[in-house]
Amino acid sequence: MRGNMSTSHHKPIEALDIAKRFGAVTAVAGLSLHLGRGEALGLLGPNGAGKSTALAMLMGLRVPDAGAVRLFGHPPGSAAARAMMGVTPQAAGFPDQLTPRELLSYATARRARAVPFDDVIAAFGLSPVIDRRMAGFSGGEVRRVALALAFLGRPGLVFLDEPTTGLDAEAQQAFRATARGYVQDGGALILTSHHWDEIEAVCDRITMIDKGHKVMDGTLADMRARMQARRISFALPEGAHPPDWLRATHAGDRWHAETDDSDACLRRLVDEGTPFADLIVEPLALPDVIARIKPENRP
Ligand SMILES: Nc1ncnc2c1ncn2[C@@H]1O[C@H](COP(=O)(O)OP(=O)(O)O)[C@@H](O)[C@H]1O
Ligand SMILES: [Mg+2]
Repeated sequence: MRGNMSTSHHKPIEALDIAKRFGAVTAVAGLSLHLGRGEALGLLGPNGAGKSTALAMLMGLRVPDAGAVRLFGHPPGSAAARAMMGVTPQAAGFPDQLTPRELLSYATARRARAVPFDDVIAAFGLSPVIDRRMAGFSGGEVRRVALALAFLGRPGLVFLDEPTTGLDAEAQQAFRATARGYVQDGGALILTSHHWDEIEAVCDRITMIDKGHKVMDGTLADMRARMQARRISFALPEGAHPPDWLRATHAGDRWHAETDDSDACLRRLVDEGTPFADLIVEPLALPDVIARIKPENRP
């Protein structure tokens, strides 16, 4: 059981039309979102999209210029909201002289519920370094301490900003497993990333933002259906041209095109005897996906 009598009927996150400007830059322009228990929401978008600013407002680290946030019905930044939250900052700087055990014990001391310390430590591979001073820890080790910090003490809501930056593949897997277990156990989680595969592995729902605006919002299944588009590229012999129907463009000695059905497209190129070489088929990069979303699909 998570939560208590006074908070049990409120959602972990309810945000209405929150906005933030920095001088002339609109970092977040009227974003609304909600997060329920046992749900993981991914905030996806290119660098500078406004993900960290949005998360900071949700967490209570920044005050929105407009709009409102409630965490389990409480204002963000309030003691009641903080007692329910686990957080990993995007750039974690910890005191060098502390050991992870000291830091984690101190930081979670005010959490009411029992701390399954050993499980979280083991999950993030921290057992060998748990009593070593953090001076001289690698970036990946610091990051793993920061992640353990978010999940320790079973908070009702976890915020993660670019959680796996600088982590090796093994630690990324550990993170994904811990995050999924936490959500299956009823926890609520929101994370930012510019990696589609990370969001796909952890989240049930996605809010995609670009330039401070929400550009897409939906379940993973919805998003997958829209991700059929592929980019293909290939070389052609000197003087040869791709067929007009492909609407290919030439850049960097290669021809590039986008298609919603790469299989059919390639069969046709083969049937027509197009002498392509060094073919590459790849999913669209995130900025291209955003660019392809038709305005009428935007909320
Ligand atoms: N403290 C700040 N002062 C001025 N501009 C900022 C500040 N923080 C963020 N920005 C700007 O707001 C926009 C969104 O930034 P951010 O929320 O960090 O995006 P993301 O996390 O998606 O990369 C960017 O244009 C960024 O330069
Ligand atoms: Mg960021």
